Amino acid sequence: MQIHSSILALRAALEKRGRVVFVPTMGNLHAGHIALMTEARSHGDTVVASVFVNRLQFGPSDDFGRYPRTLQADCDKLSAAGVDLLFAPTEADLYPEPQQYFVELPGIEHQLDGEFRPGHFRGVATVVLKLFNIVQPQAALFGKKDYQQLMVLRNMTHQLALPIAVIGSETVRADDGLALSSRNAYLSPTERSEAPRLQRILQRISAAVQGGEADFSRLERDAVAELDHHGWQTDYVAVRRQDDLQLPGPSGKQALVVLAASRLGSARLIDNVEINPANGR
Ligand code: PAJ
Repeated sequence: MQIHSSILALRAALEKRGRVVFVPTMGNLHAGHIALMTEARSHGDTVVASVFVNRLQFGPSDDFGRYPRTLQADCDKLSAAGVDLLFAPTEADLYPEPQQYFVELPGIEHQLDGEFRPGHFRGVATVVLKLFNIVQPQAALFGKKDYQQLMVLRNMTHQLALPIAVIGSETVRADDGLALSSRNAYLSPTERSEAPRLQRILQRISAAVQGGEADFSRLERDAVAELDHHGWQTDYVAVRRQDDLQLPGPSGKQALVVLAASRLGSARLIDNVEINPANGR
């Protein structure tokens, strides 16, 4: 695996490479990230990963300073996963001068995670657009675990007519259902055993909606109450449309997803479950 930190060196290495598939990350890689790398292989000839902890997407009270940085271990895992090239820029490589041009997002930036992490998706969209311009891939993979991020990036790519196929990948989970995340490292052993509750609650809401339950507000309120009762502090539990994450309309035929963000101790966990419209509704 080749490793490059400069934009120029990466561009030179990417000449005449066939179909390039790109998987951006912030490092501290776990099996969820590696699944994206493995899946990327089936979408093209050259798999490019990036590792960059992007300051622009962290708020002032977010965990930018303590976000785990484990580049050597990440390189070993990427190499073992058959990644061809790693782009691992420093801040000076990617932001040689302060970034002043940003992607402007629609109202969804202020909803769900956007409401609780102001400017987060603006920072994500800006760095991903910049990385897309550097790598110029034909396809890029993102995890469904960060559902709103995937939606924002898919719609940005579409509306700006970028010639890139955005592919969403299934969430990889621990045996007890907890979605793998670098932030799980912040959980104490007691919190770690409590954490799968989030997924269980979302599964239950999904089953209720599939079974015909139409009072989404009540399902959302009950979920928040249960989480509160077990020591969580919840930002949101919300049933939304899959394609644009807006509130569901009256039609029963829409594909829905239930999303949640909640804090357990010092870890803020997010998760979601897609609701299959096949039964009930
Ligand atoms: P990061 O949190 O490192 O995640 C990198 C990619 O891995 C994202 O597409 C994310 O959705 C995916 N991922 C994380 N956990 C996963 C899991 N359990 N199963 C499947 N996929 C998973 O997301 C970011 O970095 C950044 O915002 C980034 C897009 C790189 C821009 O800075």
